[in-house]
Formats: sequence, C-alpha cells, structure tokens
Amino acid sequence: MGTDTAKMNSPKFGAPYLLTPGPLTTSYEVKEAMLRDWGSWDDDFRAMTRKMRTRLLALLGAERAEYDCVPIQGSGSYCVEAMLGSFVPKDGKVLVLANGAYGLRAARTMEYLGRGFLLIDKGDYLPPRGDEVTAILEQDQDITHVLIIHCETSSGILNPVEELAEAAHAAGRKVLVDSMSAFGAVPLDASRVKYTAMVSSANKCIEGVPGFGFVIARKDEIEAAKGNSHSLSLDVHAQWATMEKTGQWRFTPPTHVVAAFLKALDAHHEEGGVAGRGARYTRNRDVLVEGMRGIGFETLLADRWLSPVIVTFFCPADPKFEFSRFYESMKDKGFIIYPGKLTVVDSFRVGCIGQMDEDVMRQVVTAANQTLDEMGVATAAPPQAALDERKKLAA
Ligand SMILES: Cc1ncc(COP(=O)(O)O)c(C=O)c1O
Repeated sequence: MGTDTAKMNSPKFGAPYLLTPGPLTTSYEVKEAMLRDWGSWDDDFRAMTRKMRTRLLALLGAERAEYDCVPIQGSGSYCVEAMLGSFVPKDGKVLVLANGAYGLRAARTMEYLGRGFLLIDKGDYLPPRGDEVTAILEQDQDITHVLIIHCETSSGILNPVEELAEAAHAAGRKVLVDSMSAFGAVPLDASRVKYTAMVSSANKCIEGVPGFGFVIARKDEIEAAKGNSHSLSLDVHAQWATMEKTGQWRFTPPTHVVAAFLKALDAHHEEGGVAGRGARYTRNRDVLVEGMRGIGFETLLADRWLSPVIVTFFCPADPKFEFSRFYESMKDKGFIIYPGKLTVVDSFRVGCIGQMDEDVMRQVVTAANQTLDEMGVATAAPPQAALDERKKLAA
C-alpha cells in the first residue's frame, strides 16, 4: 500500500489542474472507466452498485454493521436535502451550525422544507464550539437534531466535529454531518461521532467524477424514516428499500459515474484508504502553505484550523494585484484556482484534493510567484483589515 506520488500523472490533453474541491482533477483511469455503457436493470450494474455500497461502508471501520449506504443521484446539495428531509421529522427542529456558505445553504434547505430550524451563523469562518451548543440545547428543548459541517469548504476550516457531536449527544440530540469535502480523507469515527446520518459525494476525496452523492445512515434510522420525506426523488428510505429489494436505483442511475467511482475506490484503497489519502492531502496542504507563506501570502486560518482540503489566502494589499488577472495567469500556467468567499476582505482559495501531489503544489507556488512578478506586485502581504479580521479567530 501507499502510493509513490512521484509517479502521479499530470492531466492529459493539456487540461489544467483543478485546484478546486470538486469537480477536481481525476486520474485518466477513472475517466477511462466510463468508456462503455451499462444497462441499469442488468445484473452487472446491480453488482456494481452493491459493491460500491459495501466498499463505502468498509471505510467506516468497526461501526459499519450499524450503518447502510444509500447513493442518491445529483450533486452534494441533493444529498444534504435528502438527509434533512428524510431524517428530521416533520415536527422536528434542527440546530444548523453555520460558518460559511454550506451551513447557510443547509439552513436555506430547511426553509424550503418548511421544517423547524435554528441557525447559528458564526460568519465567514469562526468555528462553532461545544459549550455554545450545550447552552443552546439546554435553552431550546424543541431541537431534535444538530447539523455539523465537517469541513466548511468555503473557508477550508475543519470544524471540531467530535466536540460538537459530543455536546449534542450529551444533551440527548441526534447528529447529522455534512462531510461532503472531508469523507474519505479526514477520519469521521462513528464510534465517537455516533451520527444518525452523514453525506458526501462522488467527486470529492474519493476522486470520482460528479453525478451522485451518498448518505450513510444508521439502519434503524433509515427504517424509521419511512414516509417522512417531503420529496419523491430525495426519499432516502424509498431509495434504500428499492435497492435492498431489487438491487436497482429507483430512477435512471448515473451508470458511467458509478463505474468511474469504483475505479476511484480501487485507487483509494491502494493508496492506503482514509489514512493514506489524508496523508497525501495533508502533505499537499503543508507544501502549499509553506511555499505561499514563503513568498509573502498569509492564510486566513491559523494552522490548527487548516483542513487538508482547501486553503484560503488573503489577496495582497498591493494595488497592482487584481484577482481576475491573477486567475487568468495561473490558468495559463496550468492551474485553475478558486475565488474566495469571505465577505469582509478579498481572498482566493487553493484546493489540495484530487490527483496531485506535493510536486504539483510546488509548481503552484512557483506559478503564483511568477504571476506576482508579471503583475508588478512588490509584496503579497495582505491589508491590515485582513490581519485584524484574522485576530478574531485567536480571540
Ligand atoms: C461542505 C459542502 N456541503 C455541500 C456542498 C454542496 O455540494 P454541491 O455543490 O455538489 O451541490 C459542498 C460542495 O462543495 C460542500 O463542500
């Protein structure tokens, strides 16, 4: 096990690296696995679906017997909505812990569902903490579930999921986890975070192509979710019941995406599973952060909050820095980066996940340095407002 990362191939056909946390850069073998057609009713495809569900559950470790895996067509948000609509009772209430766009989207989803929720909005990146969850749950006895965003991909913060889940469990509430961008590379230990359900998607840390996501939920909770969903197509119980009975997806499955995903799961296993994948991404992040700091950039987050998924950097204060030019020049050099999502100061983000290794991250830093030179930016130091903003995290 363990991958010789030096042998990792660069994208074919001159495609740039996607330094974006999904869709991300996938291997040629993963894309190649899509070069044939499968009948959705056929035994071959049913076997592929069964294998995929079993292999995803195998990533959970010892607790896997209590859980089942239900794939859902669509992007990650479809799975979040399926999870909320299926596991939160119609008279339930969710404490949504938000510190970025995906927490806010979950709250919006609750609005659409017309079910009760309380939104704790910590702003762009401040982490929700266990003691505040304890205090809220003590005050609001109507809350039945707590929704935790594992890695809030909009800033890249790795939220303290175990601390938050512990506070929820201690107060007798159920835990739902959006582990979209973390599952497969950051451990989510079901013996410590006894979640009711969690979601992730094909085109994140397992390195498949986009097209479906999956809900991993306790079997007893799936059975109890019968008739609870607001939606025909996003009903986790109905999808599960059909898969259990017939081996089929209820509606047209993304056959090619499943084939690619199985290939991606093989590579994940060969790399050493969650630990191996997490180690490569962590190294990617460390090399990126060290290199970017070395040329004067500053990260939004202090080291303890940095995920191995995506890193937010402040834009330089130098008036010659223009993000659109920086973006285009990085793209010309073979790297697609991501605009930032902070509301207070300008930023950009660089993903660490996908088919790339530390050599690629060194090339990213070199490309960023060259681009600064081309733009005539003397220093990458951020404005004082950005540093002031960052102090809030330390406070
Ligand atoms: C934490 C998190 N939740 C939800 C989503 C939504 O997924 P999608 O954009 O695939 O609908 C994402 C997407 O990156 C995410 O990172």
